[in-house]
Amino acid sequence: MDSIIVTGGGPLRGTIPIAGAKNACLTLMPATLLSDEPLTLTNAPRLSDIRTMTQLLESLGAEVAKLSDGLVLSMSSHALNGARADYDIVRKMRASILVLGPLLARQGQAVVSLPGGCAIGARPVDLHLKAFEAMGAELDLRDGYVHAKAPSGGLKGGVVDFPFVSVGATENALMAATLAKGTTVLKNAAQEPEIVDLAQCLQAMGAQISGEGTDTIEVQGVDRLHGATHRVVTDRIELGTYMLAPLVAGGEVTCTGGKRSLLEAFCAKIEAAGAEIVETDAGLTVRRANGPIRAVDVETEPFPGFPTDLQAQMMALLCTAEGTSVLEEKIFENRFMHAPELVRMGATIEVHGGTATVTGVPKLKGAPVMATDLRASVSLILAALAAEGETRVGRVYHLDRGYEHVVAKLSGVGAQIERVKEDD
Ligand code: EPU
Repeated sequence: MDSIIVTGGGPLRGTIPIAGAKNACLTLMPATLLSDEPLTLTNAPRLSDIRTMTQLLESLGAEVAKLSDGLVLSMSSHALNGARADYDIVRKMRASILVLGPLLARQGQAVVSLPGGCAIGARPVDLHLKAFEAMGAELDLRDGYVHAKAPSGGLKGGVVDFPFVSVGATENALMAATLAKGTTVLKNAAQEPEIVDLAQCLQAMGAQISGEGTDTIEVQGVDRLHGATHRVVTDRIELGTYMLAPLVAGGEVTCTGGKRSLLEAFCAKIEAAGAEIVETDAGLTVRRANGPIRAVDVETEPFPGFPTDLQAQMMALLCTAEGTSVLEEKIFENRFMHAPELVRMGATIEVHGGTATVTGVPKLKGAPVMATDLRASVSLILAALAAEGETRVGRVYHLDRGYEHVVAKLSGVGAQIERVKEDD
């Protein structure tokens, strides 16, 4: 098991290239199951979650070739050998549930392990299942697995009215609806850029979809989908993470490939905290506007609101802001695991339920800390960039799930950061 050691300093200067989005790629990959023709994804991120999804697709009989050092995924599902996603793979990654919709739509049946809870909350999949029921599927939960069966003529279009917004359930239902008979309407659908990206890929495969990026998506089912090549959208969470680095440590960083439209609410919030953002064709350049970082209140919301996946990193910034900030986590019930670790570094944070109150201190101090999930890990690295002395972040395998080449990207802009074996 590796650790990352960061010696605080600053300022940071230079350019960080932003990869393709993990959470887009994890839903684009299962889309290959919808067609017997090849689907090629370019701009894929090189991450352990992508390797897990590769394993899962291969276990179902799909072929996945990694080209151009993993930046291109060439997939083919012409000869699926099964429709069963085993617990051994699903337990590693909740996004595995995203094979259920495509399998059900193309094969008429699927058996997929229930993912179970995870470090950030219980995370049930009831909304995914309700959507398939609305399309006529019969579902049976047995031995920790969902056994799903489409009606004899295949899934039928229907109206799916989500009681609250779910990114994964919208993606799963959208994929299934492309091959359902008739029209499916997804109401209260998620509007995240990853949904729009999925819809665009499915459209390139021949799907009839309208309304993506709004809260109502309409899908006219087609008999079959064909092959396509699609470029994965920029990872807005990696983008937001690195935009915070020069605000924490000082300096100026350009995130290439970044677009403000992917992160409007986040950009407005960091500007209120004292950031200056310049958008060019190349990407987004960020530095502190004249003056210190100031406290701001943050509430996480589905897109276009402030993303829950940037809450931990924003907290790292606010630990040394002037004043008191209140962060409300509205998406996941247990997503403040980074707070006690930041406190070990000298932060003043009080957590009550879904609310964290952060009172800025002049400086954090390096300490040994432990990563508990992906976004928590990177928030500790951000905090360490300007902390006094050395911070050792343990359990960084969480980080490998969502950030490629984090050491190279941050050392490239002048951070003192290295990866070591934990028993070094
Ligand atoms: N929920 C239910 N029932 C469901 C589905 C969701 O109760 O059937 C609840 C969840 O427990 C949560 C809320 O609804 O409280 C929203 O969950 P959502 O379904 O939107 O999340 P997800 O699809 O499981 C994706 C991302 C997460 C990101 C969330 C919210 C992927 C692979 N994961 O998860 O990303 O936080 O949307 O934006 O796309 C991360 O990358 O670190 C990460 C956790």
